[in-house]
Amino acid sequence: MVYRKSLVVGKIKTLIFGAGGMLGTELCRVFPDAVKLKHIDIDIRDKEAVIESISRAGPDVVINAAAYTAVDACEDNQELAFEVNGKAPGYIAQGCSITGAKLIHYSTDYIFDGSKKQYLETDASGPINVYGHSKLMGEKNIIEKTDDFRIIRTSWLFGLHGKNFVDTMIKLSGQVDTVNVVNDQFGKPTYAADLARKTEEIIGHPPGIYHITNEGVCSWYEFASAIITNVKPCSSNEFPRKARRPKYSVLANTKTTPMRHWKDALADYLNKRKTLEVT
Ligand SMILES: NC(=O)c1ccc[n+]([C@@H]2O[C@H](COP(=O)([O-])OP(=O)(O)OC[C@H]3O[C@@H](n4cnc5c(N)ncnc54)[C@H](OP(=O)(O)O)[C@@H]3O)[C@@H](O)[C@H]2O)c1
Repeated sequence: MVYRKSLVVGKIKTLIFGAGGMLGTELCRVFPDAVKLKHIDIDIRDKEAVIESISRAGPDVVINAAAYTAVDACEDNQELAFEVNGKAPGYIAQGCSITGAKLIHYSTDYIFDGSKKQYLETDASGPINVYGHSKLMGEKNIIEKTDDFRIIRTSWLFGLHGKNFVDTMIKLSGQVDTVNVVNDQFGKPTYAADLARKTEEIIGHPPGIYHITNEGVCSWYEFASAIITNVKPCSSNEFPRKARRPKYSVLANTKTTPMRHWKDALADYLNKRKTLEVT
């Protein structure tokens, strides 16, 4: 395998899979000169097409933000979940290994079972839903196929370019008198724009697994309370979902400088959202 250790950020040639998603769109801003592949351009389940696209572009860094992220739907569409989130990252890793590119890939807090109050990068995994199992398979396939990987586990993403909790709360708040939100699941909300910027830094870090989130832990109810006022706490039992969720999915970052608090990131996001509504 070929290593490229001394890349000058800004001069690197980058290829982004999943360029049309919430995080992918932010990555396109951070890496404006990247080769940007959306779902419409390539299905990452197509191994030959994936390897061919990496070989053709000859990037220094491949960033994979493509995934099947509908956590509840994954329970019903297991095959699709394992193909997109589990097997396809292995194809991308193989392409990287052949061409000597670094691979940046995103994984999730849902690879943990939620029985610990916080999780270190080295903690044992134990997913409790199909999405988590499929993402864990993706991590394992990457580690098997290339040494030059950075797997970034993140959580509770929100941002301008995709379906997310913040927007759902704002929409619901205008539709019903009171929005019930669970107060017994805890995690770290993360702004996609912050994560995209941090990704640039992680490229220069040694290969391995990274926990990257905004700082601060909260329940979904506490998160909702920072967004809307007509919100009421409830338990997970009162709000059954198709996929089980870990009680605690708090990712502890032990390897790199922390990002700002999620409340500061949220304020930034809400401002940007307002500006876009006005213009
Ligand atoms: N969202 C979260 O709260 C969260 C939390 C933890 C970790 N993550 C991880 O962070 C990463 C980015 O998530 P995100 O929220 O930006 O997801 P997203 O908005 O759902 O974007 C994922 C992108 O992947 C594309 N895609 C799906 N199947 C594909 C396929 N077979 N081939 C090519 N592209 C495909 C989607 O296209 P279509 O829309 O056309 O299907 C979409 O553009 C993912 O790895 C996710 O697992 C997300």
